[in-house]
Amino acid sequence: MTAEEIRRQFIEFFENKNHTPVRSAPVVPQDDPTLLFTNAGMNQFKDIFLGKGKRPYTRAVNSQKCIRVSGKHNDLEEVGRDTYHHTFFEMLGNWSFGDYYKKEAITWAWELFTDVWKLPKEKLYATVFTTDDEAHALWESETDIARDHILRYAEKDNFWEMGATGPCGPCSEIHIDLGEEFCDKKGEEHVCGVNGDCGRYIELWNLVFIQYNRDEEGQLHSLPQTHVDTGAGFERIVAVLQNQKSNYDTDIFMPLIHFIGKTAGQDYATSTEQVAFRVIADHVRMLTFSITDGGLPSNEGRGYVMRRILRRAARYGRKLGLQKPFIYKLVPKVVELMGSAYPELVERVDHVTAVIRKEEEHFNRTLDRGLEIFDSIKEELQTNKQTRIPGKQVFKLYDTYGFPVDLTRVLGEENGLTLDTDGFEKEMEAQRERARAHSKFAAKTADDAEWIVLNESAQTKFTGYSRLEQKTKIVRYQILDDAINVVLKETPFYAESGGQVGDQGTISGEGFNLEVVDTQKDGDVFIHICKFIDAFSPTSDVAEARVHVSLRRETVKNHTATHLLHAALHTVIGSHVHQAGSLVEPGRLRFDFNHSEKIAEEDLLAIERIVNEQIQLNNPLEIKQEKFADAQKNGAMALFGEKYGDVVRTVKIADFSHELCGGTHVNSTGEIGLFIILSESGIASGVRRIEAITGSAAIAYVQELRAARQELGRLLNSPENEINPKIGQLLADKKELDKEMQKLQAAQMQAGAADIIAGAETIGTVRVIIKEFPGSSIDQLKDLADEIRQKSENTLGLLCTENEGKLGFVCFVADDLVKSGRFNAGNLVREVAKTAGGGGGGRPHLATAGGKDVSKKEAALEQFRKSVTAEFS
Ligand code: ALA
Repeated sequence: MTAEEIRRQFIEFFENKNHTPVRSAPVVPQDDPTLLFTNAGMNQFKDIFLGKGKRPYTRAVNSQKCIRVSGKHNDLEEVGRDTYHHTFFEMLGNWSFGDYYKKEAITWAWELFTDVWKLPKEKLYATVFTTDDEAHALWESETDIARDHILRYAEKDNFWEMGATGPCGPCSEIHIDLGEEFCDKKGEEHVCGVNGDCGRYIELWNLVFIQYNRDEEGQLHSLPQTHVDTGAGFERIVAVLQNQKSNYDTDIFMPLIHFIGKTAGQDYATSTEQVAFRVIADHVRMLTFSITDGGLPSNEGRGYVMRRILRRAARYGRKLGLQKPFIYKLVPKVVELMGSAYPELVERVDHVTAVIRKEEEHFNRTLDRGLEIFDSIKEELQTNKQTRIPGKQVFKLYDTYGFPVDLTRVLGEENGLTLDTDGFEKEMEAQRERARAHSKFAAKTADDAEWIVLNESAQTKFTGYSRLEQKTKIVRYQILDDAINVVLKETPFYAESGGQVGDQGTISGEGFNLEVVDTQKDGDVFIHICKFIDAFSPTSDVAEARVHVSLRRETVKNHTATHLLHAALHTVIGSHVHQAGSLVEPGRLRFDFNHSEKIAEEDLLAIERIVNEQIQLNNPLEIKQEKFADAQKNGAMALFGEKYGDVVRTVKIADFSHELCGGTHVNSTGEIGLFIILSESGIASGVRRIEAITGSAAIAYVQELRAARQELGRLLNSPENEINPKIGQLLADKKELDKEMQKLQAAQMQAGAADIIAGAETIGTVRVIIKEFPGSSIDQLKDLADEIRQKSENTLGLLCTENEGKLGFVCFVADDLVKSGRFNAGNLVREVAKTAGGGGGGRPHLATAGGKDVSKKEAALEQFRKSVTAEFS
């Protein structure tokens, strides 16, 4: 039976049990930040288990592309050394979403294994979770498995979890005893057994009974429904059904391994480097599938894992004498073997091959350089009779030459040297610190990453003066950590220059869909700086470039308006005005120019009016290429300090404006619509700046102004033309009312003096008044204090006001107390002022203070109370 037949049989078996066949999810997950790679068939159903998603079916079956490279499910260093771990593998699975549960899962698994595939029952074992009596009983009642082949295990073996968080539950596994000859620990102190550590007993199928979700705190929460999630390692099942010694001996791997042998001129069967064959075979599958699904080797996260895997394969290649790039040559073979089950491989074979080839070339250069450095380090250590490679050197190899630490370790071992890993870690931490301090933009420049070249072309042809869409070809592209740079043969995208910002838009084609966020020039080449919209995996070099039309339209209005502004400044301010800088964006324009003083209000109005007159004249723009000398002769303005070639582009607007310019413009000035100056300011000595808007931004601005004015009219209940007199009247009325109110308050306070005196508290032997009068003036409080002083003996007090965000205090002491010499208003009020963040003073019977900190009001009043109390303690 071929592997392909086995895969099909599995799917059909469950289709016959009403399961819906579901396509494999991409191995590079698009929407789960908790996952580096798809690592189990259930990943794409996580939302259903958590009760967040639904599908039109409750039973599903599929064969899922999986990658496990680290963590609880795999150990990269083991892959290839043994014969049953893989980085990339296929997982066959069937699922119940709140439908059937343990009974059917167990029954059907047994039926498929023993009835359909006729695996020898006496060699099969079932494991269940320690406390899962139900599953145990079902194995007994629903199958004819030997009773003593049902074993119980604890969490480590029989509780399955997707990762640190997520759906999980107890599981029941089927293992097979392959026979004594499969034990790879012979001669060691070792007992073969289920869940043991040799190759004799291996797990074939895992039936997980999903019933919990583990949260970030590690707590288990019961799910509203129970589900079944199963996973059977396809490569292992094929090996068993094909009666082969290992997964690698099946028709999944053998043709690939032979192909590797052919490439290396060696035979796997007789090779002493079989591990290398297996590592390479495994890793090229991993790389082919992950790149197909949009992954790319890089320095971070997922991309870094891919880079490490490629480098591990490249290093093992050297054991087979493969020095030059070779992994990319294996890609078509992988596609030939797997393409019918996963057609996406066929579509992207060229892209995958190109990416791997570039990465291998890059690594080889790294390796050669690194080896030279390693040799010099080795010699120096040997001269000094040392055997430990300092952390600094390990770091230098890693950081400057991209030399993986595990490689340095291997080379070290081969040369009797050890590594100072602590020292290395310290250097790494210091570098992370530096990286954190470094700005995001500077962190990765375009030079850091390799270009993947699809076509030869030394310069970009700009077609964007006359068109905004262009069917073209990708010349080359470069993958950075957070962007993709693309160079096209022709482009309608304007690259930033002459103050005009780079165009935005999209570049799309088969297998990619990029959003261009900026366009920059590198010599004669235009670089489109893009971010992913979805996976980037071009299957052809054909690309459709589209400039964002409305952004470009607004930009050209601002650019032409800048020329009009420049000319209007000459008219109004004088011909000494030179452009000192400019920014032309979709939303606004900014024009800097030499001029020594602020521009008068009426001049600004004149400038604005002149530009708008030019707009209304709707003059066409005359744009042409001409000899620089001719342009100058014709009076075209050139920019100071700018270098121009022999032939220049000139932009002329009637007899009003004539400039050298490479930018994009409107066809005729009327398109600008409206020009409004927002501000005029000085930005450096002798340099002024005008900011302005045009087109739809200007219209929106006017509309906002009108809306605000209408709102004002509504609030004032007044027609618009009467708003200003009305506000004037209101302000005058308010002044009058304030005066009135103060008078009233004063009278009220005088009258209230008797009440206030009656409400005095007693501290020691004196009567004390502490009272707030929000909104009152200091003069009013002073009058009140005098009033109280006259009416009351043996009394002192503090009156406080809060007015316009400030505190005011008046402290008074009745004459008899002043005479006694015990209390002094000036001293008392100073303490109060200090507490309230201010100052003050006055005479012994009356003093005033201010305070800036309103929040200290209570504390200040309390301070006064304390000062008085202190006299009696
Ligand atoms: N999700 C289970 C596993 O990966 C089936 O083993």
